[in-house]
This record gives sequence, C-alpha cells and structure tokens, in this order.
Amino acid sequence: MKNILFTASECTPFIKTGGLADVIGSLPQALVKENLANVRVILPKYGEIPDQWHEQMEEIASFPVRIGWRNQGAKLFKLEHDAITFYFIENHHYFERHGIYGYYDDGERFVFYSKAVIESLPYLDFVPDILHAHDWQAGLAVAFANILQPVKNMKTIFTIHNIKYQGMLHYEAFDDLFNIPREHFAGFEWNGMLNAMKSGIFHADKITTVSPTYAEEIKEPFYGEGLESLLRDRQGDLSGIINGINTDDYNPMKDPYIHANYQHSRVKKKENKKKLQEMIGLPVKPDVPMYIAISRFVEQKGFHLVEHILHDFLQQDVQVVILGTGEYEFESSFSWFAQNFPEKMATLLKFDEGLARQLYAAADFFLMPSKFEPCGLSQLISLQYKTVPIVRETGGLKDTVHPFNEFTGEGNGFSFQNYNAHELLEQMEYSLKIYHSDKLWQTLLKNVNKSKFSWTDSAVQYAELYKDLAASHTEGE
Ligand code: GLC
Repeated sequence: MKNILFTASECTPFIKTGGLADVIGSLPQALVKENLANVRVILPKYGEIPDQWHEQMEEIASFPVRIGWRNQGAKLFKLEHDAITFYFIENHHYFERHGIYGYYDDGERFVFYSKAVIESLPYLDFVPDILHAHDWQAGLAVAFANILQPVKNMKTIFTIHNIKYQGMLHYEAFDDLFNIPREHFAGFEWNGMLNAMKSGIFHADKITTVSPTYAEEIKEPFYGEGLESLLRDRQGDLSGIINGINTDDYNPMKDPYIHANYQHSRVKKKENKKKLQEMIGLPVKPDVPMYIAISRFVEQKGFHLVEHILHDFLQQDVQVVILGTGEYEFESSFSWFAQNFPEKMATLLKFDEGLARQLYAAADFFLMPSKFEPCGLSQLISLQYKTVPIVRETGGLKDTVHPFNEFTGEGNGFSFQNYNAHELLEQMEYSLKIYHSDKLWQTLLKNVNKSKFSWTDSAVQYAELYKDLAASHTEGE
C-alpha cells in the first residue's frame, strides 16, 4: 500500500468554509477503511479550530521556515481522529486570525504554509510516496516538492476543486518570499502575476479534478478561468474523479437533526415537511410540493436564474424555501420575495447545519442551477434524502443527475443545458407536472432511491492513480 500525504487548507470536522473541507474530511477515511492506501493529512493550525481539537494535539517538532531574508517559526502538531493521523502547522502570525481567508497577505500565508509542509517532511514518522495537494492554497507545495525533491522519488498529485480561485501574488514576491532559483520563475508566473493554482498544475506529476465533466470543461475558455491553454498542454495527465459523500453521516435513517427518520417512506418525509412548515411559519400543507435551495449566495450557484423565475413560479401552488447567506443582492431579493409571498416562500438568511438537514428531509425538490460546478455535494445529499434535484448540466451536476425521461422511465432528477432562466423555469414546471402524475412520480422516486454516492468507487479510482504513479519511477530509473 502506498503512503499518501494530503495537503489542504480545510478539513471537517476541524475547519470548513466549503465542499473542499468535506472531501478532505472523508476521502482519506474511505481510502484507509477499504485498505486502499495509508493516508495522512497536513493542515494549517488555525486559531479558529475549536478548542476541543487544539487540546488533543500533541507538539512533535519545531523548525524555522525561510521566507525571503526572514525566518518564520513553525511548530508541528499531531492528532489522531477517526483512524487518520492529522498534522497541523502552527504560526500565530499567519493563522491566529478571525476567519481563514480574505486577508491582504493570503498569498504570503500560503507560501509559508506550503514551505512548512515541505520542511515538516523529516519530522512526520511517515515517508510519503505521493504528496496529494488540493486547490490553490496547496499548489505551491506541489511546486516546491518537485523543484526541491525533499523525499527521494516522492511524486505529486494536484487536485482542482474550483479553478476560479487561483491565489495570485505580485511577481516581485518571487524574489521576496520564495527562495527558489530564478530559472524556475516561469513555472509560477501567469499573465504577469505569480499564480498558485497555475504552479500546482504546471509542476504536478498528475492533475485531477472532482468530476469527469469538469475535467473536460476547464480546457475551454468559459470554464478555464484563463488557465485553459495550460490545461490543454497537460491534458494527458489530467483526469476527473467524482466526489462522494459520507453516507454514514448523511443518512436520513439515523440523522439526529431530523424530526422523523426514514429510508424511502414518503409518509415520513411528509411528517418532516409538516414540522418544517410549522417551524418556519409557512402554511401547513404537506401535499403542496416544496422546492428548496441551500447554498452560499454567489454567482457560481446560479442564483441569478432563481431570482429571475421566482415571480412566475410563485404563481403556482408551491412552496419555496431558501437557506443560506452571501452576496447582498441575493439576500435582499430573496427576502423581498418572502415578504411579498408569505404563504409560499420563506428565506432563511443563515448557515445552520441542522436546519439544512431538516430542509433536505422535508422537501420534494432541490434547486441547484449552477453556472459552473466542479462536483457539487449538495445534489448528492439531496438524493440521499430522496429529494429530487433540479440542476444545470455542468460539471459534477451533469455526472450525477440524469434527466427524467417519462417515456423510458430513466433519470433521477431534472436538468437543463444553457445558463438561461427560461430553461430553469421550464424544468421546474415540468417537475410539477411529474409530481402531480402519480405513476411517473413513483417511477422517478424509484430511480432516486437507487442513486448511490458513497466514496467506495471513487476511492478505488484514486488508489489506481496512486499505484500507477508511484510505480512509474522504478521503470524510468
Ligand atoms: C468546491 C467546488 C464544488 C466541489 C467541492 C469539493 O467547493 O465548488 O463543486 O464539490 O469543491 O470538491
């Protein structure tokens, strides 16, 4: 079995801002439990990590990290959790802050983190065959590993979870912070800036992303965010492996947050709907179809389309519930609709895990019309909770939700192709028609019940990649 060191900037249950944390918090377990690889994970030790975890960490080393002409101290901590060894890199100046991103010196913070990952390798009591780095915050670790070769024959994999966020620094930071010979500058530079995402893609032995469709899409300008030509250069080493979810945790049979636990029962699901309607002040009408959206309100998630169709759609006998926070434009327009259609719409401006699960359990339909979606986890959770997803055909949404065809009886959701509000509305209206036609609705629900999104298959695909890559050096040398 191969030794794999994951490096990333967030991981459940310690710290989370998005889906990346869910993946780093569940893929290693899947690999280890299926005996597919020995995985350990290294993370920044943020002040924001809850105290209960800090208290369990054990300090194992302390060393300086060279940042230009300065030395920054790093302390390395270790913690075992759920069969996985986690390492944490501490530096108060960089990581003892409110929140985890959004600072003027984010670039420098992750230069430090990436260097500290490399410097920590001798202290790990674990010799990685592969450094598996995730998203821009760990992109420089891939570059430093390939240039500095800190462990003989260690290979690198870089996984793109979202190419929109690239981690840019002024080009002068190369001389100020990197301590890497000038000849390597071109491997870090993109359009006049230093770019951590580009550095990862350029230097990694293999590149993956989180769905097969997104792996194709990012080679095109609409999705590639300026890096499409580089991805086309490296397409022989690029592949897409779909994410899974932790199906023990997201399990409507056992979920402690929901009112009535269930497996396939629509009767129980309606009890959850009634309870939710009471709780959030909507008319208690369990037979009225309920459409939900749960997300950060950002352009990526397709909320412009939702905004455009709400007025028309709310003319129907339906209920719509939106849960999340984000850009002011969306918060205010969704609040406006809730105020003006109090019998039909509720807007809950917060992030609340328990409430989110109550919504998944209560609803009939889940809206996710993303403009782009590398994988998307919410549509998988929605399928787990037997709530029918309505999605745009992009990235992982296209790979996991298949449009219902009333003639062949295939499909586990509804989908549309173009980023166009009319196409969304058309699918929502079609979903209503299916909901009201008993036989077709039953067929659709059967397909939803059969959808499976545990990590098992994808973990096997990662293990294959690890095996091929780790074997590759012995032949050439
Ligand atoms: C990012 C992507 C999302 C993906 C997640 C985990 O948050 O936007 O689509 O599911 O990473 O890979």
